[in-house]
Amino acid sequence: MIRLDKFLCDSGAGTRSQVKAILRAGRIQVDGQAEKDGSRKVDPAACQITLDGAVLGGRPRMVVMLNKPAGFVTATEDRQQKTVMELLPPAYQHLELKPVGRLDKATEGLLLLTNDGELLHRLISPRQEVPKVYYARHQGTAADADVDAFREGLTLADGTVCLPALLEPLGPGESRITVCEGKYHQVRRMMASRAMPVAYLERQAEGPLTLDGLSRGSVRPLTAQELEKLELAASLPVNLLEK
Ligand code: URA
Repeated sequence: MIRLDKFLCDSGAGTRSQVKAILRAGRIQVDGQAEKDGSRKVDPAACQITLDGAVLGGRPRMVVMLNKPAGFVTATEDRQQKTVMELLPPAYQHLELKPVGRLDKATEGLLLLTNDGELLHRLISPRQEVPKVYYARHQGTAADADVDAFREGLTLADGTVCLPALLEPLGPGESRITVCEGKYHQVRRMMASRAMPVAYLERQAEGPLTLDGLSRGSVRPLTAQELEKLELAASLPVNLLEK
């Protein structure tokens, strides 16, 4: 159940003040009865809500996962470059999805998109960012001193201070990196600061979510269980180093 005025805003009937005026003017009907009270709770799936006689559908809340290929910028529009929005099948095009955070043009892997502004805000809020796991191929080989420096929190050449992060060497020129923030070119800059410039970067996980076999360039909605886990992760404080 949601408030009628919220439903009307979400359905595109107007801004909050326009919706107030529309309600006051008696232009909204719930199951055929005029309704002027915006605070009334309605179940849009169970009743018919009309504006001037036209049925309002509401916009379903959507959270989708994209396996981003290299070559697409994370933006809703760009004059020159291909954006991740072009990878969405037509059925997703009108849902007003927005990327949650950003992957660089060259970075591949897990990118969430949602039309739930509140969830988006929580997921990218600096106080509540969920851990993100990256696989990197890079020059050099990560050593214990690099692992310690990541754990302590790196300071980059321009003075940017990074939160403590996990660096797990996987072999010569390969590492897994887990960070809880999304600064500009964060992982690439962190690795470069330890003389290990990154040649290839893939995000493999975000909080409880993994690509789980989703092929490169494909999109799928999160399952109910994934959504539940994501909501939980976005509401809990993170301590990476307790892992
Ligand atoms: N860190 C980076 O440097 N690039 C990304 O795309 C994501 C994290």
